[in-house]
Amino acid sequence: SMDKSNIVTCTAPVNIAVIKYWGKRNEELILPINSSLSVTLHQDQLKTTTTVATSRSFQEDRIWLNGKEEDINHPRIQSCLREIRRLARKRRSDGDPGFDLTSLSHKVHICSVNNFPTAAGLASSAAGFACLVYTLAQVFGIEGELSGIARQGSGSACRSMYGGFVQWIMGQKDDGKDSLAQQVEPETHWPELRILVLVASAERKPIGSTSGMQTSVQTSCLLKHRAESVVPGRMVEMTEAVQRKDFAAFAELTMKDSNQFHATCLDTYPPIFYLNNVSQQVISLVHRYNRHHGETRAAYTFDAGPNAVIFILQQHVPEFVQAVQHFFPPESNGGHDMISCFVFKAGPG
Ligand code: PMV
Repeated sequence: SMDKSNIVTCTAPVNIAVIKYWGKRNEELILPINSSLSVTLHQDQLKTTTTVATSRSFQEDRIWLNGKEEDINHPRIQSCLREIRRLARKRRSDGDPGFDLTSLSHKVHICSVNNFPTAAGLASSAAGFACLVYTLAQVFGIEGELSGIARQGSGSACRSMYGGFVQWIMGQKDDGKDSLAQQVEPETHWPELRILVLVASAERKPIGSTSGMQTSVQTSCLLKHRAESVVPGRMVEMTEAVQRKDFAAFAELTMKDSNQFHATCLDTYPPIFYLNNVSQQVISLVHRYNRHHGETRAAYTFDAGPNAVIFILQQHVPEFVQAVQHFFPPESNGGHDMISCFVFKAGPG
């Protein structure tokens, strides 16, 4: 008889938030205290590649991350597996047989690799869980809305399910059914936009986003103010800036939102520091560069780590990269704080 083994490989890109997600109202379902908005990168360079195999001969579900076997019982991996299997079962009971009935009872073996350093604050969990959910969905023959499942792997992962400019609407419901990602504009909308990643450090971040957010929600009144009174207006303004392709408005909101996120980290008790000296020098450089040109030509944003992501229009990339090289010559800082610069575009999800 036919061998019922099945193997699927997919890739998913990293996304960079310009309105940051920080803080959960429900830890288990991963429901945020504010909406967020991001740009999905083109997956040629920063991506996760995941292969899922199913076979009737597999005894148990197993997972390997970057070549090392990890605990499949991790609650977030379990959430994604459970939700995908639930959808597959529902689809079958709704009368759609799917392309492989038996695969539902089969165990899966998952292999996932990043082509960039994990946990360097480059949103590896976003690409990782987006890719896991998408690949599992392919294996079990599921189509349609999957961002609600990716969200349960890692909040920011729901935004990597779509390309271009993506918002994660926080939703109102307690069950999270309306806490989903949605495309604002496709990647073709703003072809001149470039994203530079300035890598100052590939060290692991000191405090992970999960525990960092918990402490912030518990202790920072600035975070509460931000979520309730600042982000709702910024979501509207940012969406409009993207739709108008108004670079100065987009850039200023991006920088202010990154600064407020890091201010909430400092307002957390005990405080959390994600920015280092090099990050602060990059911030100064961007403001000096913009002041020198008399207009906002570049914007920085930082996640839970010291590496800067710069948004800039294509025509200004060479001059900005030159300014970075001038400001951070390779022989400065005793040679350790050299900055590497990678250039990206927005891409499909
Ligand atoms: O999805 P998580 O738990 O990795 O959190 C991501 C949080 C930030 O990267 C700092 C902000 C964001 O919106 O991506």
